[in-house]
Amino acid sequence: MTHNVALSFADGKTLFIAVKPGELLLDAALRQGISLPLDCREGVCGTCHGRCESGRYEQEYVDDEALSAGDLAQRKMLACQTRVQSDATFYFDHDSSHCHAGEPLRLQSTVLRAEQVSASTAILHLDASAQADTLQFLPGQYARLQVPGTDQWRAYSFANRPNAGNQLQFLIRLLPDGVMSNFLREDCVPGLTMQLEAPLGSFYLRQVERPLVMVAGGTGLSAFLGMLDEIAERGGCTHPIQLFYGVNQEADLCETARLEALCQRIPGFEFTPVVSQPGAGWSGRSGYIHEHFDAARLNAEPFDMYLCGPPPMVEAVKGWVADQAPGQVQIYAEKFLQSATTRA
Ligand SMILES: Cc1cc2nc3c(=O)[nH]c(=O)nc-3n(C[C@H](O)[C@H](O)[C@H](O)COP(=O)(O)OP(=O)(O)OC[C@H]3O[C@@H](n4cnc5c(N)ncnc54)[C@H](O)[C@@H]3O)c2cc1C
Ligand code: FES
Repeated sequence: MTHNVALSFADGKTLFIAVKPGELLLDAALRQGISLPLDCREGVCGTCHGRCESGRYEQEYVDDEALSAGDLAQRKMLACQTRVQSDATFYFDHDSSHCHAGEPLRLQSTVLRAEQVSASTAILHLDASAQADTLQFLPGQYARLQVPGTDQWRAYSFANRPNAGNQLQFLIRLLPDGVMSNFLREDCVPGLTMQLEAPLGSFYLRQVERPLVMVAGGTGLSAFLGMLDEIAERGGCTHPIQLFYGVNQEADLCETARLEALCQRIPGFEFTPVVSQPGAGWSGRSGYIHEHFDAARLNAEPFDMYLCGPPPMVEAVKGWVADQAPGQVQIYAEKFLQSATTRA
């Protein structure tokens, strides 16, 4: 059985390859036009080293000059000695241009609908089935979408997982005034063509090996919907997963029924909505998201934290973690920076 393998690089690009049974990862990459840096091909020089971020694999000979026992324990690997045993993701700490890697795919999609799901949020549904092959991306990654009729492109995290029909979802905040926001409110009709570029970004779900804390600021929820879909679909996750979902007002909350359904599908999953400026009728958590973290619980065992949303939220949470739970936490973050054309 062929395995679907993602190769992710420091410049945020991800390339997907098919690895045949028993094939070495390096050979599979070369066969598909990706020249990973290499020298000895014997497991000695270490030039082809990377890190496995999800999936099962085994390595042939690894010289201790190339990788130490500590490196191996951290799932560092040598592409020239790696045979995968499942679908997998590998990270290489250099730009994809070092291996003559291709650009992200640019393709056409058709607008199915823009569905308003809260006072400030829409889900854009796109049909990219004109592309025969499944659009490959890692849950958590993003696409750039061109606003129809303009030369403006905006970045949006996928809100679902890759699927054979290429039916794509994006959770998008409707700003009072903005190129994409105005388009979605006023001009978005089914049947329009939308250009799309993907996959992009190095924010994606790694192998779940310890408790996860996910922190979504507003439409930062988008990336987590995709990741949670993936975890539910894969099954077998035995680690607790906490999602903190912060919004300004309760009317901004969305997709809570979908999150409830995910609680049924993923045994250790719980989510906590937090409203920063609640109305009188709100009886749930209020204030900043990090005010609701349980420091004792987070200090009890190592965990992975994923942060996605506005830069101030990401910085505030990182600051809290550095002060209150500096132990063994690995943080992955995606900041929703403004588009370059509107940045001051
Ligand atoms: C990697 C990445 C992933 C992203 N993923 C998502 C996503 O999944 N969902 C999502 O909703 N957004 C996401 N964004 C933000 C998104 O790309 C746009 O910047 C945002 O949707 C605004 O686009 P617009 O065309 O409506 O407004 P613009 O025309 O870009 O801006 C209009 C006005 O609003 C201000 N503005 C722009 N962005 C913001 C903001 N975020 N908050 C407050 N004011 C702002 C500008 O200064 C300007 O005055 C992501 C950004 C990045 C970099
Ligand atoms: S190329 Fe030398 S260790 Fe892989």
